[in-house]
Amino acid sequence: MSILEQIDKERLPQHVAVIMDGNGRWAKEKGKLRVFGHQNGVSAVRDTVEGAVELGIKYLTLYAFSTENWNRPKMEVMALMELLVSTISKETKTLMDNGVRLFAIGNLSNLPEKCRKQLYDAIKKTSGNTNCTLTLALSYSSRWEITEAARRIAIKVRDGDLGAEQITEDIFEKYLNTSGMPDPELLIRTSGEHRISNYLLWQIAYAELYFTSKLWPDFRREDLFEAVIDYQKRERRFGLTSEQLN
Ligand code: FPP
Repeated sequence: MSILEQIDKERLPQHVAVIMDGNGRWAKEKGKLRVFGHQNGVSAVRDTVEGAVELGIKYLTLYAFSTENWNRPKMEVMALMELLVSTISKETKTLMDNGVRLFAIGNLSNLPEKCRKQLYDAIKKTSGNTNCTLTLALSYSSRWEITEAARRIAIKVRDGDLGAEQITEDIFEKYLNTSGMPDPELLIRTSGEHRISNYLLWQIAYAELYFTSKLWPDFRREDLFEAVIDYQKRERRFGLTSEQLN
């Protein structure tokens, strides 16, 4: 049975989130600069997006640049921004061909002007696509997102536009960058690290976590399929007992 045939299409996760990790180590293993790892990470992004579309996953959210990544050496930050600009413009055709809508979350005002422009152009161009929403988390951290939501809610309350007693989980969610998206049911992290690293902390409350030792540049659609197969073997209980579920 092929790997795709092992997947039950009726029980796919709607939303898969990925922490793409290991680019630097991948490059180091080859005696190259870290940037070489990021460059090769682009092929992994392309193949994973195509794999998600092939499978029928509706939302794919990739951690491309964290708030903390701004503290990396200036050269690496600049190279990553350049890579983002060139990748977004080069890959827009692939997104269109695959019916993928591009979206971004994070403190986008911190991105260089050129990067923001490419991003908004591609978001606009792909806005009518419906096969899959590819969200790039850029200059993103979950604590930033949650703090920002709390700040915006506090302003509404201060101005009398929202009652403090009206604040519920559903209302709070509307102030998150991911508002309108289903929560990820599956979170994948590559490179053998078992950490969440300030990523979608609110949204992954009930996500299944999947860790693989593969370094991100080596990740391909088959690895995504393996993760989905593993996810489908798990019992998601949401705080209930097995007996209640059955
Ligand atoms: C983590 O590896 C990876 C990143 C910080 C950047 C991810 C960027 C890409 C895959 C390139 C392009 C992406 C898009 C969406 C166009 P690391 O550098 O932390 O690796 P290490 O842990 O081995 O040092």
